[in-house]
Amino acid sequence: MAEFTLPKNSKIQPGKHHAAEGAKKPRTFKIYRWSPDDGQNPRMDTFEIDLSSCGPMVLDALLKIKNEVDSTLTLRRSCREGICGSCAMNIDGTNTLACTKSIDDCKGGEISIYPLPHMPVVKDLVPDLTHFYAQFASIKPWLRTQSPAPSDAERLQSPEDRKKLDGLYECILCACCSTSCPSYWWNGDKYLGPAILLQAYRWIADSRDEDTGERLDDLEDPFKLYRCHTIMNCARTCPKGLNPAKAIAEIKKLIVERRSA
Ligand code: SF4
Ligand code: SF4
Ligand code: FES
Repeated sequence: MAEFTLPKNSKIQPGKHHAAEGAKKPRTFKIYRWSPDDGQNPRMDTFEIDLSSCGPMVLDALLKIKNEVDSTLTLRRSCREGICGSCAMNIDGTNTLACTKSIDDCKGGEISIYPLPHMPVVKDLVPDLTHFYAQFASIKPWLRTQSPAPSDAERLQSPEDRKKLDGLYECILCACCSTSCPSYWWNGDKYLGPAILLQAYRWIADSRDEDTGERLDDLEDPFKLYRCHTIMNCARTCPKGLNPAKAIAEIKKLIVERRSA
C-alpha cells in the first residue's frame, strides 16, 4: 500500500490533532476523510479542539477545524440555519444537519462524523447527490395544470387546502431520511425513497394541481413506491420533524381508493 502523505497545506500530523495546552473545554471529533485525488483508503482523523473558543453547533466545530487546523477538510454548507439542507451528514450515529446539531447534545466522549451513509462520496463529508436530484426531477416537482390560468389573479387556494401542505412544504431536500432508509440503501437505483416520495405527495396534495391521476400512475410501481416497508427511520431522523412515512402511506391509500372507486 502507498505510504500516507498529508497534503502540503495541512498542519496536522497524520490522523491526530491536539488542542493547545491549557484548553478550557477540549472535545474530540473523529472525522471521515477520503479524497479521490490521493489514492489512499478512507481514514478517520482525530481533532481535539477547545470549545471555549467555538460556536455551539457541530458546523461551528467543523469550520473551526477547517479554518484553524486543516484547510483540506471538505464539507458543504450554506445557510447555517437549517434552511438549505447542504450540511446534512451523519453525526454521532444519526443523519442530521451540522448547523442545527448542538455539540452539547452529542453523547459524551468523541463525536464521530461521517458523510450521509450509502451514497458515493465526492470528498470527505460531501456525498454525491446526482442520482437523488435526478429522482427529484423525475416526479416533476412543479404545479401541473390543464385549465387556463385566470387572467386577473393567481391560482387561489382556500386556507383549509393550504393547510394540507403543512408537514410537506417544509422539506429542505437534505436527504437525511432517504440515506437512513434501509430500503433506499439496497434499492436506491429504483426505489424513490422517503424524501422524493414526500415531495411527490406535496404536489398530489396541492388543491391547485390538476395532474393527480398521472402522478399516481407514475408512482404505482413495485419499486418506485412499494419498497417502503414502514421501518420509520425516515421520520425518526428528519431534522425538520417531518414524517415521510406518513406521506408515503397517503399515496398508497389514494392508489387503493381510486382502484375501488
Ligand atoms: S423529509 Fe426531512 S429528512 Fe427528508 S429530505 Fe425532507 S427535510 Fe430532509
Ligand atoms: S418508513 Fe419507508 S421510507 Fe421511511 S425508512 Fe422506512 S422503508 Fe424507508
Ligand atoms: S448550512 Fe444550510 S442547512 Fe445547514
